[in-house]
Amino acid sequence: RRLVVLVSGSGTNLQALLDEIAATGAEAYGAEVVAVGADREGIEGLARAERAGLPTFVCRVKDHATREEWDAALAEAVAAHEPDLVVSAGFMKIVGKEFLARFGGRFVNTHPALLPSFPGAHGVRDALAYGAKVTGCTVHFVDDGVDTGPIIAQGVVEVRDEDDESALHERIKEVERRLLVEVVGRLARNGYRIEGRKVVIQ
Ligand code: GRF
Repeated sequence: RRLVVLVSGSGTNLQALLDEIAATGAEAYGAEVVAVGADREGIEGLARAERAGLPTFVCRVKDHATREEWDAALAEAVAAHEPDLVVSAGFMKIVGKEFLARFGGRFVNTHPALLPSFPGAHGVRDALAYGAKVTGCTVHFVDDGVDTGPIIAQGVVEVRDEDDESALHERIKEVERRLLVEVVGRLARNGYRIEGRKVVIQ
C-alpha cells in the first residue's frame, strides 16, 4: 500500500511511521510512505522526509486565490503520488469538498484528545484547562466536519496535576505514535470497511 503523509510541524508521528517501516520492511508492514506534503515550508516534518529520501511538496493557502483552489491543488499534489491511504499526522488545515471527494474514506487523521471531546486545533490545552483526569489520542477517518469522522482507535493518557500543555502533549504523543503505526499497518494489511460510524478492519 502507498501512503502519502501530510504534516505541519515536527513530524514525529511521520518519523514513527518511517522508523517502523524501516524496521519491519514495507512488505511485512503492508505499506510504504511514497511522499510527504505540508501546508508550510521550513518545518522539521519536511526535513525528516528529505532525510529519508522521500519526495515532498508544499501547498500553501496564501499561494492560492481561494481556499477552494488551495484544496483542489492539495488534492492534485497528493493524487500525483497515487496513494492508497493518506495520513494526516499533525496536518493543521481542514480539507474541503474536492479533497474529500477524492480521498474520503481513505484519509486518516490523528488527534491528541479523546474525540468527541476537545476537537480542533487545541485539544491538549482544552483538556488541561477543563480539568480532565484522563485524555488521550484518537485515530479516525476524516469526514466533512472538524475531527468528527468515524473513530478507528483511541489511546488513554492520564493527566497529572503538574502537567503543562507541552508535558501532557509529549506524553500523549508517546501513545499516539504507537497507535498510529499500529492502525495504519492494520488498515494497509487487512483492508477495512466503514459502516456509518463503525470501522470494520478485516
Ligand atoms: C500530534 O499530536 C497531532 O495529533 C497534533 O499535532 C501533533 C503533531 O505532532 N495534531 P508531530 O508533528 O507528528 O510531531
